[in-house]
Amino acid sequence: MSNESVQFYYPSDEIVKNAAVSGMDAYKALCAEAEADYEGFWAKRARELITWKEPFTQVLDESNAPFFKWFADGKLNVSYNCLDRQVEAGLGDKVAIIFEADNGDVTKVTYKEMLTKVCKMANLLRAKGVQKGDRVVIYMPMTVEGIVAMQACARIGAPHSIVFGGFSAQALRDRINDAGATLLITSDGQFRGGKALPLKTIADEAIAMGGCDTLKGVVVFKRTGVECNMVAGRDEWLHDGLANQPETCEPEWVGAEHPLFLLYTSGSTGKPKGVQHSTGGYLLHAIMTMQWTFDIKPNDVFWCTADIGWVTGHTYITYGPLACGATEVVFEGVPTYPDAGRFWKMIQDHKVSIFYTAPTAIRSLIKASDTKPEVHPKSFDLSSLRLLGSVGEPINPAAWEWYHHNVGGDRCPIVDTFWQTETGGHMITPLPGATPLVPGSCTLPFPGIQFAVVDETGADLPWGQGGILVCKKPWPSMIRTIWNDDERYIKSYYPADFQGKYYLAGDGAIRDKDTGYFTITGRIDDVLNVSGHRMGTMEIESALVANPLVAEAAVVGRPDDLTGEAIVAFVVLKGQRPTGDDAKKMIKELSDWVGKEIGPIAKPKDIRFGDNLPKTRSGKIMRRLLRGLAKGEELTQDTSTLENPAILEQLKG
Ligand code: WT7
Repeated sequence: MSNESVQFYYPSDEIVKNAAVSGMDAYKALCAEAEADYEGFWAKRARELITWKEPFTQVLDESNAPFFKWFADGKLNVSYNCLDRQVEAGLGDKVAIIFEADNGDVTKVTYKEMLTKVCKMANLLRAKGVQKGDRVVIYMPMTVEGIVAMQACARIGAPHSIVFGGFSAQALRDRINDAGATLLITSDGQFRGGKALPLKTIADEAIAMGGCDTLKGVVVFKRTGVECNMVAGRDEWLHDGLANQPETCEPEWVGAEHPLFLLYTSGSTGKPKGVQHSTGGYLLHAIMTMQWTFDIKPNDVFWCTADIGWVTGHTYITYGPLACGATEVVFEGVPTYPDAGRFWKMIQDHKVSIFYTAPTAIRSLIKASDTKPEVHPKSFDLSSLRLLGSVGEPINPAAWEWYHHNVGGDRCPIVDTFWQTETGGHMITPLPGATPLVPGSCTLPFPGIQFAVVDETGADLPWGQGGILVCKKPWPSMIRTIWNDDERYIKSYYPADFQGKYYLAGDGAIRDKDTGYFTITGRIDDVLNVSGHRMGTMEIESALVANPLVAEAAVVGRPDDLTGEAIVAFVVLKGQRPTGDDAKKMIKELSDWVGKEIGPIAKPKDIRFGDNLPKTRSGKIMRRLLRGLAKGEELTQDTSTLENPAILEQLKG
């Protein structure tokens, strides 16, 4: 790609004029400011944007690297910063949340009402014995109460750990166990696409598996009204618990390094990692990215379609928008119910001005609207939109163009935000009033963020050459450690390959040889990205081999037009290799099994059976061969080291 052939999309003069970061010179000035005085750059914003109970005097503490500390002697409370200070600033009657339920019912909650709800919930948590530092697991659907529960934890300094409502009993049990949680907040059920799905029964199953000994109680929010078994002495309905709670609650003022939350994510081994985030640094980046990436203004209606079960829902639903005093839409349901026009209708109805979603959702809606004009974005009034965002996986240029044209009416910049659970907020992203856009590229680092593309030794690579994505300097919202596993934190993110100096993102990247724009080329570890959801191949393999019928399993990814990547599993059974209808039955059985072990999102799209797996003479599974087979490629690769070439035929699929 040479400069002349790059087609840039420039923001209009109007957008540039009104943007928080106005024009490329302003962007460059911010980068230069950070370059000249790195700590000063962050400290200035931390003082301006956060209300501190006690101001910090230290900025970055590297004395125990790579366990970095930011603003460590400052004291604050995130819930205070999100709610009380908005009410104190006269925004009490401003709508904080426009909640649209799966069935279309709309509820509006003002800042004042949010504050009262959070205080009552916080008082309930305290009454339940939850103290500062205790972990609370939240297993809830997308509802106002889910956000209230998170904010309530923040208010009393109890780190929350959200478990996505699509995860299985086993996954929930493992997370409660690893976090040593003392309280579980869940709901009777959840609505999705017109169906009421169970949640409490799954939670009961999780606890029955054993290993949740730290758990002292379960609080249950009534959402669907489905009957559920309440265990006396352990379980309590949320509405009962809240009934007599006072409407005010003094926040727990915590140090800036106090953990705000844990969030489990997949890594390259079977066991998910409890990513631990801080309070002060995390909040700072949530606010800065709301202001610079999303250019949030008082009259905006912001809508991030993520679930609170993922980091996107933490930073850009629960914390960022509220800390900025914004009005946001919160959505329960799926983009295709009651039909694939749901998103566009909601943008129209609520006059959404900033819309943030995932490429997978866009791709599925493109497909759905191809044949059905009534669900095409053109059939809706989307004139309220001024800015679009994309997150979670690379957005292919065709989907980008469609989104830009059909949803953004050719006038809304698209911010393609690259970041991770571990980074807390945007790392590489366009700024809408500054960065000329190129479809498929997340463009340039957020001001202050020092991302680079290096080789295996950590040496900088020239633009135009693909390599490993690293961050050269610690930043305020970065992961602090893996819960209970400092060793794994170092090994995963500050490996010896780079003398322990660089943060390893786990992605490959290339910078355009002329513009220096970043394009993410995909994970360099055994992590897959399916519909923007992160899945470890080892995690799925462990789930498969836990089935008594399975002897061995290997899982790889293959590119998929709709989901980005698709999961392909190669399985060796203890018994005979099944064929025909037997194979079909077994595929269904194993797929359901994985769904039960991890959750439906981990179900393989394709399962193939062999008498064995392709291995080297030393017994190592040849994954590159499996990746080729998964894609249906003709095997031109060197198979000379292969012990058992005959089985390749069986695995062709
Ligand atoms: C992985 C992180 C970002 C929050 C939600 C997912 C991939 C994320 C992009 C993007 C290309 C992206 C990376 C990253 N990814 N955003 N804009 N372009 N790839 O967080 O579950 O921690 O996954 O998602 O591979 O490492 P996550």
